[in-house]
Amino acid sequence: MDGLDKRKRAEEIFEYYGALENRGEQDVIVAMLRELQEVYGCITAGTAERVADVAGVKGAFVRALVRMYPTLKEAAFLHEIIVCMGKTCSEKGGRDIYKVLQRVLKVRGNGISRDGKVRVRTQSCLKHCGTAPNMLIDGKLYTGVTQEKLMGILKNELHLGV
Ligand code: FES
Repeated sequence: MDGLDKRKRAEEIFEYYGALENRGEQDVIVAMLRELQEVYGCITAGTAERVADVAGVKGAFVRALVRMYPTLKEAAFLHEIIVCMGKTCSEKGGRDIYKVLQRVLKVRGNGISRDGKVRVRTQSCLKHCGTAPNMLIDGKLYTGVTQEKLMGILKNELHLGV
């Protein structure tokens, strides 16, 4: 499954569980988390926040569930940023966005920032070339990303001290 397929699958999961009347019940939230883990391999803090929104509960409750259930795996990093490096995106600024991310987050060879909070990686085409440059953060698509917009997202949405 590539990044876009994963995002589509995750959106289907959010849509399905979001429509359930009992979406705020613990068993239902855990079922949603399990399905998302099948897609992403683990649950990042960003995914946990999204689950909380969909279920109508607090983020802290969802994060506690992830820690409580042995079958659920909390990500070793809090957020994952995927920068599109397809031809259109890289030519329209994606390459620079990736360089800025590596510099400001002090990304090491394993793709994880020095503070361990973010994993940064690239992907060939997110199939939204019309809005290049694009990136995904915890599965959410960001389009027309400028360096200024990127810094705002890192500070205000991910609350990183950059
Ligand atoms: S090249 Fe980035 S979405 Fe296609």
